[in-house]
Amino acid sequence: PQNVGILAMEIYFPPTCIKQDTLENFDGVSKGKYTIGLGQDCMAFCSEVEDVISMGLTAVTSLLEKYEIDPKQIGRLEVGSETVIDKSKSIKTFLMQIFEDCGNTDIEGVDSTNACYGGTAALFNCVNWVESSSWDGRYGLVVSTDSAVYAEGAARPTGGAGAVAMLIGPDAPIAFESKFRASHMEHVYDFYKPDLASEYPVVDGKLSQTCYLMALDSCYKRYCQKYEKIQGKEFSMADADYFVFHSPYNKLVQKSFARLVFDDVARNVSTVDESAKEKLGQYTSLGSEESYQSRDLEKAAQQVAKPDYDKKVQPATLIPKQLGNMYTASLYAAFASLIHNKNSSLDGNRVMMFSYGSGLTATMFSLHLTEGKGAFSLSNIAKVMNIDHKLNTRTEVVPEKFVELMHLMEHRYGGKDFVTSTDISHLAAGTYYLTNVDSKYRRFYAKK
Ligand code: ACO
Repeated sequence: PQNVGILAMEIYFPPTCIKQDTLENFDGVSKGKYTIGLGQDCMAFCSEVEDVISMGLTAVTSLLEKYEIDPKQIGRLEVGSETVIDKSKSIKTFLMQIFEDCGNTDIEGVDSTNACYGGTAALFNCVNWVESSSWDGRYGLVVSTDSAVYAEGAARPTGGAGAVAMLIGPDAPIAFESKFRASHMEHVYDFYKPDLASEYPVVDGKLSQTCYLMALDSCYKRYCQKYEKIQGKEFSMADADYFVFHSPYNKLVQKSFARLVFDDVARNVSTVDESAKEKLGQYTSLGSEESYQSRDLEKAAQQVAKPDYDKKVQPATLIPKQLGNMYTASLYAAFASLIHNKNSSLDGNRVMMFSYGSGLTATMFSLHLTEGKGAFSLSNIAKVMNIDHKLNTRTEVVPEKFVELMHLMEHRYGGKDFVTSTDISHLAAGTYYLTNVDSKYRRFYAKK
């Protein structure tokens, strides 16, 4: 099979959200800390009737319906998530309900978990399967679904929630350049979830920021080396049209892109102009630890990177800024923003993708885009995702209500024997929701 990649996409996120400027006021932090400091506009969250399973069910059924895919045509279903609802039973098995109803139980795949990286692992599994000798000719389906919630404090405004479903097969408008993939993985305690009684992570914010940038550097350098070895010519940022990053919050994305600009200066590639060399050259002698701590370098690089950031990154920031960190879905929601904003004009473009999961696992890979045909075309994907409508029909919730809900969810986490609220008026038709958890911890869902 040729040009294996993403044929179709759907995104679902809860219609409930909180505005970051309202949250700044409520938390009593300085004005602008979340909106400018973190670069975030809004944060999505699951109300008590939604969770990663219901969001996954909604995203998958909506994708199958809108692209008119017969559920029997799915041969592999992979889920990426770091939201633990059950330590054994995969989210994938919940999604099997959709396929059992059509008599299709012959579907490989389970869940992949490592912080925000699980969606990428799931995606690679599907792409690899289609490219392999065990492929049976059917589609792969990837679901990234997460609800990111943090304990009260500095990390809370970096939460978010959402699910992205992607259909995988050959002759895709979004094709993988599978030869050019580079990873960086190591053992670090930057963000982890050791307390099984709590949904909240233990997080070392500063360390996680440095680890992210360090992994980015490492992946980019390796990507360039692999490309140069295979293609026999130099690779630089000028060879890519767009850059899409895992987006815990927008400020880190701005810093990441600036870091790549600095990396090209340090690599002394031919495409770097004189003014960039002049402004950033002096920092190339810094030791790696120092270079992550240097505020002067960070500022100078962001300034040099700004025009290209606006062109090559900004179109992929819409949903992450509006929803917050969706963990495994975050990178793919950023990519969905790019399709939404640029659709057909992406024909012939190369898009760089950077996936980061704390702990840590990271990969940089690239996609080659073509307009495609019919249902599986960039313009149709943008139309189906209908992102403006989804963003514009959300309900803003006041912080008091949000905190009250967080307390309820803390109490319910890992619990049994409860029935959820009967008020589902805020959900769109077709949305799945949690109705109850019985005395044996079994979860039940219904479709509105
Ligand atoms: N106006 C404008 N900017 C402001 C203001 C203000 N009033 N106040 C603060 N800022 C800026 C700060 O200067 C800082 O910007 P900088 O990074 O360019 O210096 C930014 O806002 C954040 O302020 P900090 O004081 O650094 O924030 P704090 O330490 O309180 O929390 C953090 C930020 C660490 C990101 C926290 O939210 C967190 O731990 N989040 C979860 C971890 C995370 O997302 N890590 C990313 C990779 S791992 C992953 O994906 C989970």
